[in-house]
Amino acid sequence: MSLSGYFTRKPVFDIFPLETADAGMAAALHRARFSRPWNDGEFHSLLSQDPVYGFLALKEGALGRTAGGFVLARAAAGEAEILTIGVDQRFERAGLGWRLMQAALREARMRGAEAIFLEVDEGNIAARGLYAKLGFAKVGERKAYYAGADGSRSTALVMRRDLR
Ligand SMILES: CC(C)(COP(=O)(O)OP(=O)(O)OC[C@H]1O[C@@H](n2cnc3c(N)ncnc32)[C@H](O)[C@@H]1OP(=O)(O)O)[C@@H](O)C(=O)NCCC(=O)NCCS
Repeated sequence: MSLSGYFTRKPVFDIFPLETADAGMAAALHRARFSRPWNDGEFHSLLSQDPVYGFLALKEGALGRTAGGFVLARAAAGEAEILTIGVDQRFERAGLGWRLMQAALREARMRGAEAIFLEVDEGNIAARGLYAKLGFAKVGERKAYYAGADGSRSTALVMRRDLR
């Protein structure tokens, strides 16, 4: 690490449970990272469902709270699923995705899930790197699953990780 890098203070984020009151913040993060954004109401109604839960990375600063990323998941009948995850581009590659996923995995286990699943675009190198590092393995494929803004289609990989 360079000397200037060493002395630059990294923003300090803490991970909090995502409450229905935070639906707007999660929707804003989602909008910034996904071409098909989910709106406040969608986040609010998902978070109102018992099996759905999430986490938010928040930093307190002089100018108030800054949200760095979020994860939304669902756990039911012994299985869990990551519904969506996004980290603000300004704070990428600083470990927030990892910490949010760790929180989601821990909560899934607490809720009795024995395995957790997710879907990821085959071409999403950052997300695939994160999931591989967390021990997710490919268990299936859905061809032409995602539609790009230009009408192109891409493959979704279905991934699974054991929680026992
Ligand atoms: C995927 C995403 C959540 C990762 O968040 P992040 O906070 O940047 O990830 P982290 O800093 O915690 O990275 C953890 C590990 O993931 C992998 N990783 C993250 N970004 C990567 C990249 N651009 N290329 C390759 N591997 C990457 C690395 O193994 C990394 O560990 P390392 O930094 O020690 O090498 C973020 O890039 C994002 O929000 N992308 C847009 C939304 C999205 O695609 N969501 C997933 C949909 S399925």
